[in-house]
Amino acid sequence: MKAGGRSRFGWQSSGPSLVPLAGLTAYQVLNRLGLKAGETVLIHGGSGGVGSLGIQIAMALGASVIATASEKNHEFLRSLGAEPVAYGEGLAERVRALRPNGVDVVADFVGGNLEATLAVLAEGGRHASIANSEVEEHGGDWMWVHPVGADLQELADLADSRKLRVEAAEVFPLEKPLMPSVPTWKGIPAARS
Ligand SMILES: NC(=O)c1ccc[n+]([C@@H]2O[C@H](COP(=O)([O-])OP(=O)(O)OC[C@H]3O[C@@H](n4cnc5c(N)ncnc54)[C@H](OP(=O)(O)O)[C@@H]3O)[C@@H](O)[C@H]2O)c1
Repeated sequence: MKAGGRSRFGWQSSGPSLVPLAGLTAYQVLNRLGLKAGETVLIHGGSGGVGSLGIQIAMALGASVIATASEKNHEFLRSLGAEPVAYGEGLAERVRALRPNGVDVVADFVGGNLEATLAVLAEGGRHASIANSEVEEHGGDWMWVHPVGADLQELADLADSRKLRVEAAEVFPLEKPLMPSVPTWKGIPAARS
């Protein structure tokens, strides 16, 4: 994949290594939800590895994106094309202020926000989570990523057309042991439910 220190995607060499898990997860969730052009999606965890790729995939589909993150990451979300909102208490009200009629789709990449999800979904809206199995009791899909070559090819095609951008928080040399004291990519939190 690499050519002269950069991948065929035009990323620094760390970029492609971040896409398979985070990118496939986001792609498969949005695909299962049938997100399409003209719809609005709320992405919980838009500044994370899965969420930031999810925003870009949703934008490439022609959807309009609202995404949650800490205040310090709102500019990053804007740079990806999303409308940022803070997570936590009052989230549903903040989303309703942006879309009084609710959103068509909610993709949860964090967990712990089912109440807000149900409060912002428009009539007939669809939702899924990768971090909270309880969504199944409320008409949502609880999903796990699957290694599907055709999906990875779709991601590679998006990347080739410069529609995906990946930012690694830190790069570790292969010879440096990661465990147990070195944090993972951006620090992966335990699922909150
Ligand atoms: N089911 C699957 O197949 C699958 C696949 C991959 C990952 N996962 C799981 O998906 C989750 C996300 O992975 P990731 O790699 O994207 O993690 P990440 O890069 O660490 O991102 C975490 C995201 O959660 C946000 N966040 C932190 N605390 C929050 C809170 N209290 N309320 C709401 N949002 C909060 C962060 O926002 P700020 O940084 O802006 O605060 C950030 O957007 C992890 O739990 C991971 O284990 C599941």
